[in-house]
Formats: sequence, C-alpha cells, structure tokens
Amino acid sequence: MSGRISLNAFQIATPCQHTSGAWRNPRSRAAEGYTDLEYWTGLAQTLERGKFDSLFLADVLGVYDVYGGSPDAAIRGAAQVPILDPFTLISAMAAVTSRLGFAVTAATTYEQPYALARRFSSLDHLTKGRIGFNVVTSYLESAARNLGLDAQLDHDLRYDMGDEFMEVVYKLWEASWEDDAVLADRESGVFADPSKVHPIGHEGEHYRVPGIHLTAPSPQRTPVIFQAGASSRGTAFAARHGEGVFINGMRKDIAARIVGSLRDAAEQAGRPRDALRVMQQITVIVGDSDAQAERLHREAISYATPEASLALYGGWSGVDMSGFAPDQVLEYVDTNSMRSTLALLTTADPEKRKWTTSDLVEFMRIGGVGPVIVGGPETVADEIEDWVETAGLDGINLFHAVSPETYEQFVELVVPELQKRGRVWDDYAGSTLREYYYGEGRQRVRDDHPAAAHRRR
Ligand SMILES: Cc1cc2nc3c(=O)[nH]c(=O)nc-3n(C[C@H](O)[C@H](O)[C@H](O)COP(=O)(O)O)c2cc1C
Repeated sequence: MSGRISLNAFQIATPCQHTSGAWRNPRSRAAEGYTDLEYWTGLAQTLERGKFDSLFLADVLGVYDVYGGSPDAAIRGAAQVPILDPFTLISAMAAVTSRLGFAVTAATTYEQPYALARRFSSLDHLTKGRIGFNVVTSYLESAARNLGLDAQLDHDLRYDMGDEFMEVVYKLWEASWEDDAVLADRESGVFADPSKVHPIGHEGEHYRVPGIHLTAPSPQRTPVIFQAGASSRGTAFAARHGEGVFINGMRKDIAARIVGSLRDAAEQAGRPRDALRVMQQITVIVGDSDAQAERLHREAISYATPEASLALYGGWSGVDMSGFAPDQVLEYVDTNSMRSTLALLTTADPEKRKWTTSDLVEFMRIGGVGPVIVGGPETVADEIEDWVETAGLDGINLFHAVSPETYEQFVELVVPELQKRGRVWDDYAGSTLREYYYGEGRQRVRDDHPAAAHRRR
C-alpha cells in the first residue's frame, strides 16, 4: 500500500465557483444556501464524516471585470460574485465539528499583518488548532482599485511584500508571547507576566510593527500555511512558506512537473522535499455506476454558461477574450494577473497543444481549468490513485460540479472505496490541522519552516 491520500474540499462563499452555471442546476443548493449557516455547518459535518483533513475556503476581494471591460457578465452569471467574507463562517462550522480543519484565504497585499495575525490566532484558539492560512497575493485589478490603489502592484512586488508580511506574522505568532506567559493567577492578581510578553520590533521596507501580539499563544501558534503560487516567483514563495501547497496541473504529466519543481524549490530554500504537502485540484462527478455518473455529467454540462466562464478566465489571466473569434488561438502575454493560468494553456504544455477560445469554453464547462473525473466509485478511486502516484501528490483538493451534492456523494461512495484500499484513514490521527499533514504530536511548525527561526529559545 502507498501512503495516505489527504482529502481537502474546495469552496468559496458564493453561489457559483469554477463550474459556471452550476447555480442553475436544480441539484445545487449553493445559490440559496451560501448565505445560510446551516448550509455551511451541514457541509462541515459531511466532510468530517468523510475524514477530510480540511475545508479550504478560497476568496477574492474584487469582481471579475476584465471580460468586456465590465463586471456585467460576472454579475449576470454569478462568476464568484456575490461573495461573503470566508472568516465569518468558521466559528459556526467549528462548533459542530471537532476534527475538520479550515484553511482560510487572505490576501497579504491588502491586509495588515498585525490585525490579520490576531484574526488567525483567534480562530486557532476557537477551533482548538484547526486553522490554516491560505496566503494569496491577489490577481484582480478591481480589488486594487477598490482598496486604495490606482492599479495592482506588480506581480513580483506583491510576492516580495508577501515575504515581509509573513516575516511579521511569524514574529507575532512565534516570538511575542512565551508559552508560560499566561498565569491567570487569581490569588496574586496577575493574568500574564509582562516580562514574558515581548514586542517584536519589526521595522522593514513595507511594514512597521513595533509592539506585542494581541493574542496569547494558540494551539498551533502559526496556523498551517497554504500557498498556491505557480509562476517562477510564486513557486519560490510557495516553496519557502507553504506547508500545504495547492496546484492545478490540468493533466497528470503537467502536475508531475509542477510537483517536481516545487520540491526542487523547497530544497533550494533549505527545506526537505517532503516538507510540502502538495494537493491537486480535481472536480469529481460520481454516481452509483459509471453510467449514472455520465448522466450527471451531461446534466451538469447543460447548465454551463460560456460568458461566465470567460469572465472568470479574464479575471484569472488578465486577458479580455470578449472580442476573440471562436477559433482564435490563445497566446501567452505577460499580464499582472495569474501568469501561470495563461501559461497553463500556452507555454507550459509539453504537448504544445493550441487552445482556441471555443476549446477553452468547452473545457471550462466543469471545474474551471482543472481536471474532471467522472465515474462510479471504483473508477473515481482508480483515477485519484493514478493522479497521486503519477504526479507524486500528497492529496487532492476536491472541487465540485454541484454543491453540496458532490461532497455528499464523494463521502458516501468514494471515501469507503479509498478506505478499503487503505488510501484514506479510518479516523483522524491527532486533533490539530498540522498533525494531519505531519503526524500526531506535531502541532507546531517544523524546525525546517521559516516561522521556526522566530521561536524564542
Ligand atoms: C487550488 C487553488 C486555489 C486558489 N485559491 C485562491 C484564492 O482563494 N484567492 C486568490 O487570490 N488566489 C487563489 N489561487 C491563486 C494562487 O494564489 C496563485 O495566484 C495562482 O496559483 C497563480 O500563481 P502565480 O500568482 O504565481 O502566477 C488559487 C490557486 C489554486 C491552484
């Protein structure tokens, strides 16, 4: 038997995510449910029943307005808008679960490290160590314009700022409060010993944070760090900071190459190759049998909305395809958005396939620009195992065609099959998110992680 496959579920707090038109599918409860706590608590319980390591909550701070130079297509087609703040969902989901981890997205480009560090420490306390931080630098011009800038900062500068941002939050989490600073001594009237609470004195190029962290040490101190950078600068960032790394390889051979370069980059950053837990995004459509899954697939495809797909792709890639003819071939250009999304369909494909606008629209009907597996439980389990073996993955990030149905069916049909094969655990080992990735008892960052350098000796 090979190793355990880590299961993680992808969500955004919005009616429709990567499968454009999914909100129209009568099987979907997302369109009404995304604003209901019961929708989220029910999903969290489903995932915990299926022994998922984490629910991953992606986020954007802007609207997809590159397509046609307007947000209309995105608004009409619910292309990741309207959207809720993902942080607001966590406490409720944590209250009805005891093991499931939560990886929440925040953009370093627009947050202040001092305030964000407190938010994560608060959630790490309230979840008893089940929180992760998906570090993103953002890619939408519309976010920049509404957050006080005239235009987005340069792609690589966003990562440089992110590096310093992470240094500040590591200092706040690891270096400010000593483990035994809190006394809570009613007799003496001393809650915490001021000699054991240290200002971090950070003075850098982008941030100045002289003071102490506002929150006493939480179970994990530093939340589990997730990253998905994929450009050369992004890969270096992910390899330096990431503990969990999310990738989109589109095909197994491409994923294998991405995993290889991430692990090479980890080594260059002085970390072991296996310090990274790499998870591939995969959309699954599963039924009782291959034939039933095919029917569900056809049904899901019938709701696809090309305009909304192109609105999403415009936001990701920075390329407005509204004037493109259906047979126009996509070319790589350097944009200030997600460079790797464009590279995926142009320069990064070893088979040098030429993608036209209509190829893209067809491909994006289900699961955005990621791979899709359709089949009965055994077919899906076979394919997932093959992805993991071929690409050298540690796990998957499960995208959906219909929410929450995809997760319910996956837990009911695929998890038992993977458990039978010894690829998914029967129960959680440990109770904090970091333990799921690194083993029982390892709730604090490993010595090879850059946060560890800030620990007080
Ligand atoms: C599975 C997955 C989830 C992602 N989630 C987010 C997200 O929630 N918010 C965001 O701004 N970017 C998200 N990204 C984009 C990455 O942060 C990153 O910008 C992207 O992979 C491109 O890398 P590059 O910026 O180095 O080109 C995600 C990427 C992947 C593959």
